[in-house]
Amino acid sequence: MIYSRIVGTGSYLPPRVMTNLEFAARLDTSDAWIRERTGIVQRHIADPAQGSSDLALQASRRALDAAGVGAESIDLIVLATSTPDYIFPSTACLLQAKLGVKGCAAFDLQAVCSGFVYALATADSFIRSGQYQRALVIGAEVFSRILDWNDRGTCVLFGDGAGAVVLAAGSKPGVHASVLRADGSQVDMLSVPGNVCNGRVIGSPFVQMNGQGVFKFAVKVLEDSARETLAAADMTIEDVDWLIPHQANVRILEATARKLGLPAKKLVVTVDHHGNTSAASVPLALDEFVRAGKIRGGQRVLLQGVGGGFTWGSSLVTL
Ligand code: ACO
Repeated sequence: MIYSRIVGTGSYLPPRVMTNLEFAARLDTSDAWIRERTGIVQRHIADPAQGSSDLALQASRRALDAAGVGAESIDLIVLATSTPDYIFPSTACLLQAKLGVKGCAAFDLQAVCSGFVYALATADSFIRSGQYQRALVIGAEVFSRILDWNDRGTCVLFGDGAGAVVLAAGSKPGVHASVLRADGSQVDMLSVPGNVCNGRVIGSPFVQMNGQGVFKFAVKVLEDSARETLAAADMTIEDVDWLIPHQANVRILEATARKLGLPAKKLVVTVDHHGNTSAASVPLALDEFVRAGKIRGGQRVLLQGVGGGFTWGSSLVTL
């Protein structure tokens, strides 16, 4: 039996830190409002010269170093992003070139904030099928580029960053179970409803959101998805050492842990200092806790995404 296992993690945050006070200086908002409603204190913002592929490159190099393998040994790259460098080619292909390798399969995956969990489940399936042996799975975003910086209801929530894992074939799981779901009838609740047509942007190029609707939907599907994934792996919440839900809002994370009966000390929270980095949020949080020595080899981690589409999903993994 072939399984896949995470054998290295890496992440990258652009150096520029933006605090809540910077918003308060030019919008009708305050540090206290943002902290109380979202838990966010600061976020990182990419330099205008940096694209998602640049952030992905740094995170990927760190993941490859942690795994002790070179980029030439990777036979599959799956990169989750909603903020690609170009319309085409894919950011995964740009990343492959920046890593200085060629030949391996490389493609982008679009599932907004669920992107990394979708990408991990996709790579896991390829590896378990025997088609590939070692995958680089990345979430990378420059969400700062699709924000209306005058809309206090959305611009305070997001940040830029990238996280990556090396997923390798092995004889023990690894990834125990993944469950992916979507409900396209919810497209209007959270979207960037624009596109480029004949050289012009048609529609809006900015994030639009029904905040309260997103909040309620996210809490419900994160709970349902955790239960469905644990059942698929024949495990219970007591078997989980760490829960890493998509880092959207501290109140969403805490409500999810509470509904699952998970002790607060097992809940990973990084949204306070990263903001919501969409597809990058789960691998960023994973890498931060691995490097801090909090998440250790042999521990079981439930990774969860939820985002525009709506899309959602979970993967239960042993590190
Ligand atoms: N500063 C001050 N006031 C604000 C701000 C702000 N940054 N943003 C909104 N307000 C105001 C609103 O205009 C409204 O004012 P009004 O009463 O005069 O109309 C008031 O605050 C209350 O607005 P609500 O939307 O009811 O506030 P709520 O408590 O729901 O908090 C928030 C808003 C933080 C967006 C919350 O709904 C939320 O976090 N939702 C989840 C959204 C999310 O996580 N999106 C990320 C993408 S989705 C994903 O990643 C899964």
